[in-house]
Amino acid sequence: MIYELAALPGDGIGPEVTTQARKVLNKAAQKLGFTIKWRDFPFGAAYYLAQGHVLPKGALDDIGSCQALLLGAVGDPRVPPGPLERELLLALRFHFDQYLNIRPAKSFPNVPLPRPLGPGEKLDIVVVRENTEDFYMGLGGLLGPQKTNHEIAATRKLYQFKASLTATLDPELNGTFSVGLLTEPAIRRIAKKAYSLAVARGDKIVHVATKANALPDFYGYWDRITRQEAENFPEIKAIHINVDNLCYQLPRDPNGFGVILCPNLFGDIVSDLVSALAGGLGLAASGNLGDGLAMFEPVHGSAPDIAGTGKANPLAAILSGALLLESLNLKAAANLVERAVVGYLAEGRNLPRELGGPATVERVGELVLAQMDQYEP
Ligand code: NAI
Ligand code: MG
Repeated sequence: MIYELAALPGDGIGPEVTTQARKVLNKAAQKLGFTIKWRDFPFGAAYYLAQGHVLPKGALDDIGSCQALLLGAVGDPRVPPGPLERELLLALRFHFDQYLNIRPAKSFPNVPLPRPLGPGEKLDIVVVRENTEDFYMGLGGLLGPQKTNHEIAATRKLYQFKASLTATLDPELNGTFSVGLLTEPAIRRIAKKAYSLAVARGDKIVHVATKANALPDFYGYWDRITRQEAENFPEIKAIHINVDNLCYQLPRDPNGFGVILCPNLFGDIVSDLVSALAGGLGLAASGNLGDGLAMFEPVHGSAPDIAGTGKANPLAAILSGALLLESLNLKAAANLVERAVVGYLAEGRNLPRELGGPATVERVGELVLAQMDQYEP
């Protein structure tokens, strides 16, 4: 069996960590008797600066002809925030309608946690983030004292959204506004995914992040639909919790948290918080999934502060690769990769620089590869 996978290493440490992840995936393929054919896509800051555009015509469809996408990270100090995020990262998520962003945070051996876990305690949280709506739609504009007209439009697989807004900001003021959207089908499908995942894990509780106290019409609607959808899952109790309180409770005692369902913006923030609880961004993997092409990427960004120093921890990218294999139903290969990462960390020698050890990004990759030889797939 041959799998054609797209690789978009991106910027900063993106190429460093995805190189290691690709080696690990290639080895898993070799051990389990399938073949990976990688297709490289050069997009990111360097491409944008050289070409003057983020993506050439047809690039998304080209990427979409592969079976899955492994992404490093995009972002570079030479490019002000905006084009790369909007026209590459968010464009990929929206174009392929990757409405489910799944971000697991688990405790690993020898990875120190901010609050040491008691005996028998294990961190095993998954943030399920809605990935297409909320305040990440990039809809809005600038306001001033003069009347301005704003035509707002967004295309999603589920719908077309159009709005017109005439606005003035008195007196003599400038400002900005942003429109967020939450729609019933988008909430239902993500809630269904979160509750199904909890059932598959054998959990009894799903925490649903909200902020209905401050935005009762907006997040109150999110609450209503997520509650209705929970009625289809009698095994699961959905507990709605304001996201500020959630951010307070999680570091105090992460016990009792499993699946956490979040709207887009809160999901981005909460997943960084839980990845810190689990030991660091360098271990935090993620998948963007929908009914089309799925994309796997570490939670972290391009970390320009450590690019080229060997300090990057590639384990998040490698674990994202394991999620990629799982999405293609290559469960044995995914398990092999995960066991190799756990086995490497459990030895407690030559840990990544991020964890206080001496191992460079490349050395960590080699050590994970060496572990794979110790396991019969
Ligand atoms: P970041 O995640 O790149 O870095 C945050 C901190 O964590 C830095 O101190 C960095 O050195 C450290 N770090 C991150 N990954 C690490 C790893 N694998 N090993 C060791 N240390 C690691 O976030 P930051 O600094 O806010 O953003 C940098 C750039 O990345 C920006 O241009 C931002 O827009 C972009 N970004 C891109 C994302 C994506 O492509 N999905 C996600 C987040 C940020
Ligand atoms: Mg983030």
